Amino acid sequence: MSTRPRTPGPSAPAPGKLALPELRAMKQRGDRISMITAYDAPAALLADEAGVELVLVGDSAAMVMLGHESTVPVTLDEMIFLTRAVTRTARRPLVIGDLPFGSYEISDEQAVGSAIRMLKEGGADCVKLEGAGRMVSRARAIAESNIGIMGHIGLTPQSATKLGGFRAQGRTADAAIALYDAALALEDAGCFAIVLEAVPAPVSAGITAALEIPTIGIGAGAGCDGQVLVWHDLLGMYTGPAPRFVKRYAALADEMGEALAAYIADVRSGAFPEEQHAYSIPDDELALFEAALGARR
Ligand code: KIV
Repeated sequence: MSTRPRTPGPSAPAPGKLALPELRAMKQRGDRISMITAYDAPAALLADEAGVELVLVGDSAAMVMLGHESTVPVTLDEMIFLTRAVTRTARRPLVIGDLPFGSYEISDEQAVGSAIRMLKEGGADCVKLEGAGRMVSRARAIAESNIGIMGHIGLTPQSATKLGGFRAQGRTADAAIALYDAALALEDAGCFAIVLEAVPAPVSAGITAALEIPTIGIGAGAGCDGQVLVWHDLLGMYTGPAPRFVKRYAALADEMGEALAAYIADVRSGAFPEEQHAYSIPDDELALFEAALGARR
């Protein structure tokens, strides 16, 4: 048997990294799991320093970072680019790279190929995909390739058009049972956790109780094992109404807007920059410079 040290990979986390099985242990202990989205290196560093367990490089980036109307247009290359920035600074949290629309639907092989790219090129620790049904097979194929896979059911923004918009799911008994069955199928396929989005709280609680793996809720009530919020929602990085399930912990858009307005006013009035913001030159060098300038005039 080889005694060589193992190199980090899908089955050997980097030093200091939260171990994937710890999530299930947290559920068993009743410890709530915190997850936040991040899309760049400074945000990931802040999230890590704040002590979050999971950082999701969500395809919500399409809307909150890239200005699209939905999550559909973002590409796998773009998601890998963002994930690479996040994984440069997020040390302890597990970083989950979201597989965007079009990167896993065609076949199990396509799904595994996209997941591998997310790990190898993006540096993600694991990946997430949306849906159940045929997507259960995609999740199983990824899990069987030794890659951590997170499920996502309820409101799945990649299929918002089919769902009739960004609206709550599982609000009839039949729909709630379908979500319950989907969650069990994803657990059986090997998912390490499942996001429940915009699902009535009692339905989420029932699903959470039935699963051994943790559920992470967004608009799914307090009965989930953990919660996730989108970076821009949590920090109030836009003005105007937020979805019902959002709690804003700051109003950074207001603060940033005020800072920008003050900067522009200072530039226009000449109040910025001040001497403390400028660089000096030794007197003798300045004299030589001025003499040289004089000679050129
Ligand atoms: O893309 C995303 O940010 C997500 C979360 C809302 C769970 O999928």
